[in-house]
Amino acid sequence: MDNLLQLLAFEAKNRAISDLFTHLDRADKFSLSAADLYLDFSKQNITEDELNALMVWAKDLKLTEKIQAMFSGEPINNTENRAVLHTLLRAPASQQRAILADKADEVIATEKRMEVLVDDVLQGKICTATNKRFTDVLAIGIGGSFYGCKTALSALNDYCVSDVKVHLLSNVDGHAMTQKLTQLNAETTLVIVISKTFTTQETLLNANSVKQWLLANGVTQHALAKHLLAVTSHSQKALEFGVNAENILPMWDWVGGRFSVWSAVGLPLALAIGMENFNAFKQGAWQMDEHFQHASFTENMPIIMALIGIWNRSFLSYPALAVLPYNHALRAFPGYLQQTDMESNGKSVAQNGDKLTYATAPIVFGQEGTNGQHAFMQLMHQSDDIIPTDFIISLTTTSQYQDHQQVLFAHCIAQAEALMQGKSLDQVITQLLSEGMNEQEALRLAPHKTMKGNTPSNTLLLKQLDPTSLGALFALYEHKIFVQGALWQINSFDQWGVELGKQLSGDVLALLQNKIAPSSATQLSSSSKKLIQQFKNSV
Ligand code: F6P
Repeated sequence: MDNLLQLLAFEAKNRAISDLFTHLDRADKFSLSAADLYLDFSKQNITEDELNALMVWAKDLKLTEKIQAMFSGEPINNTENRAVLHTLLRAPASQQRAILADKADEVIATEKRMEVLVDDVLQGKICTATNKRFTDVLAIGIGGSFYGCKTALSALNDYCVSDVKVHLLSNVDGHAMTQKLTQLNAETTLVIVISKTFTTQETLLNANSVKQWLLANGVTQHALAKHLLAVTSHSQKALEFGVNAENILPMWDWVGGRFSVWSAVGLPLALAIGMENFNAFKQGAWQMDEHFQHASFTENMPIIMALIGIWNRSFLSYPALAVLPYNHALRAFPGYLQQTDMESNGKSVAQNGDKLTYATAPIVFGQEGTNGQHAFMQLMHQSDDIIPTDFIISLTTTSQYQDHQQVLFAHCIAQAEALMQGKSLDQVITQLLSEGMNEQEALRLAPHKTMKGNTPSNTLLLKQLDPTSLGALFALYEHKIFVQGALWQINSFDQWGVELGKQLSGDVLALLQNKIAPSSATQLSSSSKKLIQQFKNSV
């Protein structure tokens, strides 16, 4: 990677972030607004010169051209020879037509079908086989066919407009299935199978078991299709599953799974919050798209976050990123980002096939604040590992407990400050002595109470959490991740790394089901075979 940046990073690692605040205008200079979000990045371990050097590096790597290539529909997903155009799903029809030409007709028609379907279900215009309104929707999907809806449903619970309850089923664990089905009445449940490939084993097993549950609980074979919808790019497979053609909504290969919540994959969300709120969600994302495409690098929130993330990961060599939403409604956001970030950029081969010589995606983890303070913040304050952190919090809350929001906000700001400042041995000794502790005890305890500090963080403020700001937040991270992949020279839009596990699970299952002899399971180690035998002995 860039020699100048390597040299600058060497110097940066030996510097205290707190010392950078001798520049009294730092908080003003290292913050910016976009699409109603406010980003403070002044607690990052970076100077103006270093940030400018990163921008020069990005320009040399033709970042502007790469952004234009994505939005113009070039096949930037080079291993699958696909365009990456999920942004079009939230763009005006004129932009859709400009890029997709006559293919835009299906996109626009699908949006209209979603709108009609949501209205029909919520108004009871389409009903169950026994002519009742649907009371519940059960959406079955995993990965990108799950996380976007899961996160947005948690975040926008206050915006649920209908009395139709939406449930999501993702994991193949039978307990997950039971937990959902015991809440449901088959007679009034609408099932949506969401799978871009319609081959994902967990989704198909869950879907088949739910189909059997419908049939076992009063829904006749003849009436079954009234209870089934599908969202997929393989409609033939959905037809074979038993979904009527008019109940299949399309997905397109230019929409990656982890970027698909803007498509009909978002149908469960739209059924919960209504089309007006779903369109506001898309509008917020589109506002961030416009900002991303037109703001200069120095004012560009996704680019700034991306460059700082690369600075921390590839130059300062910090291996992880903590995402800490101090907002209960955003509690699923770290999990959503684990797929969006790590499945996009968790790679070590460049687009041209060369082995990379630098680190790429960080290990993303996190949970809602303040819970994290009672879980992993001890490590973040007192281990030797520096873990850059994104704090996310809204300034206002719809909660009736306004005083709670003050406490939540105070903890969020305090944690960012404590991670940056730390507490030196001298400071600890001085404090213990001032509290009346004798010198011997103070000297004994002090090493255990020091904190390293110098942990960089972003603080992202939302005016309030609503469909529009959530859409902007999703798009902000989508574009940050895109920029990082572009600069790391990797393809952020395939996911070949998940294939081997899928293939080996087939071998294990065949052994478990005695369809093959252990001797023919040549790809499995003796460890796995012994564990499989333990399972077989247990049943
Ligand atoms: O995690 C692997 C993956 O292929 C994701 O990229 C995708 O979102 C998920 O599995 C589900 O795939 P599908 O929507 O085809 O069922």
